[in-house]
Formats: sequence, C-alpha cells, structure tokens
Amino acid sequence: MIKTKQGNCIELLKELESNSIDLLVTEPPYKTINVELSYEWIPECYRVLKDSSHAYIMTNSLEMSDAIEKSGFEIISISEYFKCNKTLFNKKNKQYVIFCRKGKAKELNLPNIEYTSRINNFSSKVHPTEKPVGLMQFYIENSSKENDIVLDPFMGSGSTGVACLKSNRNFIGFEIDGNYYKIATDRIITKLSYKNYLENFDESSFNKKWLKCTNTHDGFFNDEKYEPFTEDEFKDLIQTNTEFKTQWELTLPNN
Ligand SMILES: C[S@@+](CC[C@H](N)C(=O)[O-])C[C@H]1O[C@@H](n2cnc3c(N)ncnc32)[C@H](O)[C@@H]1O
Repeated sequence: MIKTKQGNCIELLKELESNSIDLLVTEPPYKTINVELSYEWIPECYRVLKDSSHAYIMTNSLEMSDAIEKSGFEIISISEYFKCNKTLFNKKNKQYVIFCRKGKAKELNLPNIEYTSRINNFSSKVHPTEKPVGLMQFYIENSSKENDIVLDPFMGSGSTGVACLKSNRNFIGFEIDGNYYKIATDRIITKLSYKNYLENFDESSFNKKWLKCTNTHDGFFNDEKYEPFTEDEFKDLIQTNTEFKTQWELTLPNN
C-alpha cells in the first residue's frame, strides 16, 4: 500500500488512526526567512505511531528536541553528520538525526552499523534537501520489517517512499508543495511500475517486445536471449513510448 496526499500534514495527520503506523522517517522543513513551521506535527506523529516504534527526524537544529520530548517521545540518540555540499536553504554543513521511540524499547535489526557519518550530499537532485534513498532505506530496514507502514509527513522529492518500495514496506507520505508533490509521486510511480514490470518478467510467456533482445552468435547457433530492461532504460521507455507507458505505468490510488 502506497498512499500519498498533497496538503498540510498538520491537517492530514489528523485523518490517520491512532497507533496505526510502524515507523516515522522524516525531514521537516528547515527554518528560513520564509518558512516558520509550528511543532504541532510532532504530537500528531506520536499519536499515530504504534507502541514500541521508532522515529528518525533529520534536522539542522536541535531546537525541536524539547517539543519531541514533550510529545512523549524518548530520544534514544542524536547523531551528527557532515554533508559535503552546502545546499540552498541550509548553509550549515552539520546535520542531525534525532532517533527516538514511542513506548517500550524495540530491538534494532541492524545494530552496530554506523551509517549516517558516511552520507554525502550528491549532485543530481530534484529537491534542495533531497536525501539519498540508501540512507532512508537504512533507517527503514533498521527499525521495521517487511509490510510495515512507514510515514513521512514531509516527503519532499519522495526519497522515503522510493526507499519503502525498495525495502517492501507500505508508505504514507504528505507534501504541501504542488511541484515537489508531483516530483515525489512521479518517482514513486516509476519505481512502482518498474517493480510491477520485473515481477511480470517471464521470458517464455511474456510479450517479448517488452524485453531487451541480446542476440548472441557462438559460431554454431543463432541464439536469441531476452532480458528485462534496466531501471534507467525503463524510465526512458516510459517517457518516450506511449504503448509501453500504457502497458506498464501504474497509478497511485487517489484517496
Ligand atoms: C526538508 S524537505 C524534505 C526533503 C526530503 N527528505 C527529500 O529527500 O526530498 C521538507 C519538505 O516539507 C514540505 N513541507 C513544508 N511544510 C509542510 C507541511 N505543513 N505539510 C507537508 N509538507 C510540508 C516542504 O515543501 C519540503 O518539500
């Protein structure tokens, strides 16, 4: 299940049932001259999380720690990491990940792995604070199991959603900005469609025209070998071939 909605998460979180979410992974907006967000989303996130669940909150300021604790979360650790590139909004090079829990302690799936300090910013980005999918995947796999529900109320370019698809988790994501919402849902739809394409890959019965044909000639036989398109080839084909798009592109439920 992948559910995304465009809008203000402070309103949208109220539509979610209490104790229904297994994990929170999010990066709320940074304080800038134009953006001043209240901390109302924090107690709402606490309410919707199940007992004994984890939350990873990425930020460049520890100002919100008090609000996190007042909402009932226990802060387990605050890790720092240094980004390589400075971004448009966030001129600081240091970022924090506030790792907390609701209720009883929960075991980590990947203990003893220090991941965040190795994260660099990367250049091809569609959002000024876009995070690497691999980082989100690490948090998700550390603190949830397959088919759990992961929430990101500030999804930006949708990295948490893409990571959920890669790790076979359900995902609920909100984003207020129409442009970023479209970028996020396009990325998620492409990933979802590619998964669907691969799951249906069957060389024998499959319509071979949607497979890559690698002709091999070993001197005796003209052998036709078929393999699925790579994810990049798939993305190109979705954009350029209407028939391919119609056959493979999935849509997200509109609710
Ligand atoms: C720091 S960015 C998240 C970037 C994301 N981690 C990524 O990898 O692309 C925060 C996002 O929250 C969105 N946002 C700000 N206020 C919001 C609100 N009240 N409800 C939902 N989204 C909001 C912003 O438009 C922005 O895209």
